[in-house]
Amino acid sequence: MRRVFSGVQPTGNLHLGNYLGAIKNFVLLQNDHECIYCVVDMHAITVKQDPKILKSNILEVAAAFVASGINPEKSVIFVQSQVSAHAELAWIFNCTARLGWLNRMTQFKEKAGKNRENASAGLYTYPVLMAADILAYHATHVPVGDDQRQHLELARDIAQKFNNDFKADYFPITEPVIMGNATRVMSLRDGKNKMSKSDVSDYSRLNLTDSADDISNKIRKAKTDPLPLPNESCLYSEKKFNEDIIANRPEAVNLLSIYSALSNESLKEVVLKFSEKQFSFFKNELNQLSVETLSPITKEMRKLLEDKFYLEGILNNGADKANSIAEPILKDTKEIVGFY
Ligand code: TYM
Repeated sequence: MRRVFSGVQPTGNLHLGNYLGAIKNFVLLQNDHECIYCVVDMHAITVKQDPKILKSNILEVAAAFVASGINPEKSVIFVQSQVSAHAELAWIFNCTARLGWLNRMTQFKEKAGKNRENASAGLYTYPVLMAADILAYHATHVPVGDDQRQHLELARDIAQKFNNDFKADYFPITEPVIMGNATRVMSLRDGKNKMSKSDVSDYSRLNLTDSADDISNKIRKAKTDPLPLPNESCLYSEKKFNEDIIANRPEAVNLLSIYSALSNESLKEVVLKFSEKQFSFFKNELNQLSVETLSPITKEMRKLLEDKFYLEGILNNGADKANSIAEPILKDTKEIVGFY
């Protein structure tokens, strides 16, 4: 049985990267998998959050899930802190994971920055909680953007070490699912930086809450280079740009990849369509496509957020279902560890 698990942090500013790298794929996978999608509020508090804003961001992620097409009748949608197995299993895995493994996590280094001594202990053990999220459901497949690759490696290492330490073939070795043509959407202001919720410039990202005007402005101002768009020689294969263009024209690569992911056309089709055209022409097309795709989601999110009770109903129901899967797995795990 293939079981999918993934999570999104309720830290505000959900953007096109979250949509193309993760949420769009969550929707596709629910057709032929059992899917569990989580609003990971416990991960969010690894950095300082305003409690009121956190609460409203939790509902916003739930609304984004549903508005993007996750069907709450088919898939489980719930809030992490409402299922205590995550915290309990994370503690057990904190005793499985090695310090050396956590010291290698690049995202901790980026997020903690220069003032590492002042980072929370939670930020350091963040990937252990991620492993607990996934393994509390014996999930076999985890759809994420490219930036989560290293964390998923760690989840595999934790499962393997736990199984070895206790001579129990208990936890599955999870497969990352990094799919589509926009697994790493870059900033609209700098093609060498990832599009991110925390970028100080709102012009760096298309937010799922942006109006059609916001989208147009941001695409119009998106950084480009003075050359026309590249021709077919920029492709390494049907699905990949060559190293040269990635290094020298990151903005062109990013915008073409976004177009390809939004239109569901292959990179090759998109490159041929805009081969040697001017950016101004391409940006108009990209703008139209972005508005066509994102505006219905934004509209639906707004509508859902007006009906708080409906969203809370989905989340409560989801927490019950999630609990009923995770509880027996936690119970077995405690038994394996030797808890009384
Ligand atoms: P988070 O909340 O930062 O991001 C949610 C999802 O969006 C993807 N993503 C991107 N994809 C493409 N381009 C981008 N610029 C971009 N930015 C973000 C992320 O890869 C992610 O899939 N640690 C996770 C949340 C998490 C989780 C889990 C995921 C907690 N527990 C268990 C999977 C399984 C995170 O911070 O996602």
